[in-house]
Amino acid sequence: MNWLSEFESIVRQGEPLAPYTWFRLGGPAQYFAEPESHQQLAELVRRAHAEGEPIRLLGGGSNILVRDEGVPGLVIHLSAPCFGGIRVQGRHVIAGGGAKLGHVISTAVREGLGGLESLVGIPGTVGGALHGNAGGRGGDIGQWTYRATVMTVEGEFHDRSREEMIFAYRKSSLDELVILEAEFQLEHEDPQELTKRMQTQWIIKKASQPLGHQNAGCIFKNPRGISAGMLIDQAGLKGTRIGGAEVSERHANFIIAEPGATAQDVLRLIELIRSRVADRLGVELETEIEIW
Ligand code: EPU
Repeated sequence: MNWLSEFESIVRQGEPLAPYTWFRLGGPAQYFAEPESHQQLAELVRRAHAEGEPIRLLGGGSNILVRDEGVPGLVIHLSAPCFGGIRVQGRHVIAGGGAKLGHVISTAVREGLGGLESLVGIPGTVGGALHGNAGGRGGDIGQWTYRATVMTVEGEFHDRSREEMIFAYRKSSLDELVILEAEFQLEHEDPQELTKRMQTQWIIKKASQPLGHQNAGCIFKNPRGISAGMLIDQAGLKGTRIGGAEVSERHANFIIAEPGATAQDVLRLIELIRSRVADRLGVELETEIEIW
């Protein structure tokens, strides 16, 4: 019996992944699943794992580049409502891993809970943000995280307390397959003040980054705290183009994919940037985006 037979209603074969990513590039997933409950997710993962299928979790698609040839094995998308709930208890906000980070931030601000507002403008889901400890100059998501529930590739659920989690620059110890839920402990503040602060952050971001284009946020990590964007700019690479992929004129750590671009164009541009920055400035850049 095929391992998929119980899951026919939630698994599609050969699903194009491009529409699920911010770059809107790349090929299909061999199997693409949208489970409808925590239990169904756990059973699906156990079965796929027992079959030796590679399993990947797709969050908001804002930090990945899918290769043109697509992805073997199973890609899981937590789109069902049971994975995206947001609730407030006192000064805690509890959110599903599939919830949009932006919705969590606006809920917190509305409720007069401060902390997460500096993350405004960061796309993607709560799970994705925690996995890579998303943040910016105003702080990162890890510093506000009080608890998380994860699920392993064996389909087991575990709670992680604040003491058990380690967050570093764009890195977290939450590396299990799925981050199912996260609880944030925030500070009571005046909602109007918070709204103002959030709006200021948003304006700064809009002025310095190419929002609303086909891009996936910063491509490279900042080496030892130095802006990778500044280094790429100093290497004279703004506006450099391969096929339909171009280094943003606004912020050099962004790559814009024009209509007609391929994932291969972006990959070749990434390699060009790395070798130019290494040659001219002696710095090795490491990608922040995940390449599938
Ligand atoms: N700069 C340039 N040229 C450029 C880009 C930047 O000279 O093309 C200079 C700026 O003028 C500024 C300095 O570099 O003096 C720092 O720039 P910025 O404030 O934009 O910060 P960053 O270090 O380039 C980081 C994060 C961003 C985050 C911003 C703001 C990383 C890799 N980048 O960028 O995060 O939005 O701070 O908080 O950590 C992301 O991770 O996807 C991301 C976009």
